[in-house]
Amino acid sequence: MNFITLTLLLVYQVHGLSFPKCFKFGFATASYQIEGGWNASGKGPNIWDWYTHTYPTRIADLTNGDVACDSYHKVATDVKLLKNIKADFYRFSISWARIFPTGQTNNINPDGVRYYNELINLLLANNIKPVRIISLIMPIKYFPYSGIVSKPGSPSTNLPKSDYFVDYADKVFSLFGDRVKTWITFNEPSQICEFGYSNGAIAPGYTQLGIGNYMCGRTLLIAHAKAYRLYEKKYKQLQKGFIGMTVHAVWFEPAAEGKTYAEAAEISLQFMFGWWEHPIYKGGYPPVMRKRINYLSAQQNFTKSRLPYFTKDEIKLIKGTADFLGLNHYTSFLCSALDSGAVQSPLMNPDTNVTCYQPSSWKRGASIWIKVTPWGFRKILNWIKKEYGNPKVLVTENGYSDKGELQDCNRVNFLNDYLTELLNAIKKDGCNVQGYAVWTLMDNFEWGSGYTERFGLFYMNPSDPNRARIPKMSAYVLRNIIKTRKIDTTFTPQGFKACPAS
Ligand SMILES: *[C@@H]1O[C@H](CO)[C@@H](O)[C@H](O)[C@H]1NC(C)=O
Ligand SMILES: *[C@@H]1O[C@H](CO)[C@@H](O)[C@H](O)[C@H]1NC(C)=O
Ligand SMILES: *[C@@H]1O[C@H](CO)[C@@H](O)[C@H](O)[C@H]1NC(C)=O
Repeated sequence: MNFITLTLLLVYQVHGLSFPKCFKFGFATASYQIEGGWNASGKGPNIWDWYTHTYPTRIADLTNGDVACDSYHKVATDVKLLKNIKADFYRFSISWARIFPTGQTNNINPDGVRYYNELINLLLANNIKPVRIISLIMPIKYFPYSGIVSKPGSPSTNLPKSDYFVDYADKVFSLFGDRVKTWITFNEPSQICEFGYSNGAIAPGYTQLGIGNYMCGRTLLIAHAKAYRLYEKKYKQLQKGFIGMTVHAVWFEPAAEGKTYAEAAEISLQFMFGWWEHPIYKGGYPPVMRKRINYLSAQQNFTKSRLPYFTKDEIKLIKGTADFLGLNHYTSFLCSALDSGAVQSPLMNPDTNVTCYQPSSWKRGASIWIKVTPWGFRKILNWIKKEYGNPKVLVTENGYSDKGELQDCNRVNFLNDYLTELLNAIKKDGCNVQGYAVWTLMDNFEWGSGYTERFGLFYMNPSDPNRARIPKMSAYVLRNIIKTRKIDTTFTPQGFKACPAS
């Protein structure tokens, strides 16, 4: 081997990895965060409309999603953006109350159906695959009888109802399933249940610490499974689609060497991620979750465990209900078991008896919880591979928040570094990852943070009556990655300055 071939070989090893031909790149959005048209043409109010109108001061900049990016009126604009940026797929969600204003399926809003048909048809005409989230942003009229949680004090009696969701899913499959082939039942059930029904930090702001989360979780898992089984039985043969759930997973790294740290990290993963995936891939709740919550419930003098039991039939119903694993991933934490000295962060689930933190030395985004830890991406993908037998994974969200700058070097570096780790996980570790969607297409209403945290690859100013979408540097960088299937950290699009290395 002469010097030139050796050099080429080294270069190849460092820069040669490229995304497989069949690997798909996409962009993710969510209905309430972009659509606007909150009361347009027959749409019913949903829990977020109610929440932002009732508690305006709970949103950092007092904004809401009434108009948001006005995507309700901008189907053609949005599809053109996706086309120009070379998206293979678009992950978006349905607003339940836009097609079923009261939540019940007897009352359908034709304009809502028209809106989603228009979007889906235009995507397909541009060769972009629609990936749909059925979504659990409930119509407000439906909430009182939704049965997501039951009355306080009765954690395991008064079983929550999941059938309304299944009726809704059934209608959605029949309306759009001839064209939509990838379905996600729920997005981030941990966040829905912990923040919506346990500590009350987001809509519907229900507070029942350590009880509401597990009731909500049980309802969602059963609703997901019933929707999956319904699809399997009634639509799969005809429509030939795939269905899964998307779960948010932080990577939890042991804070130090040693068994107690490793256990602390593992417990955290099981409580956040295994809560959903263990019932789906292995059957029933993770043993560590069952054991700890039973123990603590007894200590607290509950007559029953705060973690409601599944029946044998329910365990069977839920097991195997995923054609792929949807993963939202952004960041990592370091974990330790609680010793007498350590104080648990209030953000942690008290049932874990574990505390996790992010060192202040880690680089962060505009969102306090996003610390840039690309190495954690490869680790969570490998943990999933090992824990669940290398399932098919679709990364349905990953992204970075800043204040909205167009020369967004921090986001450019974030994407280059996270995608490099993803590539390593696929090529070097054999993780079965089939696609990646960046969060998010454009700056949008970021829940409680309003517009103070910007995740978009396109800039959008909510005070601009036209709500123009302006490409940031990162939009061109990701476009180049999609085009070349490679990561080139030196790529600098025209009109932008080279970014300092990360
Ligand atoms: C919709 O809401 C806006 C405020 O966001 C209000 O001005 C308008 O009158 C409402 N339209 C209907 C049809 O209720
Ligand atoms: C549970 O009951 C025991 C015995 O009545 C009592 O000593 C203890 O304080 C109770 N624990 C809680 C958390 O209320
Ligand atoms: C929590 O962890 C500490 C330290 O490991 C231990 O002493 C304590 O008993 C644990 N508490 C519970 C409720 O498991």
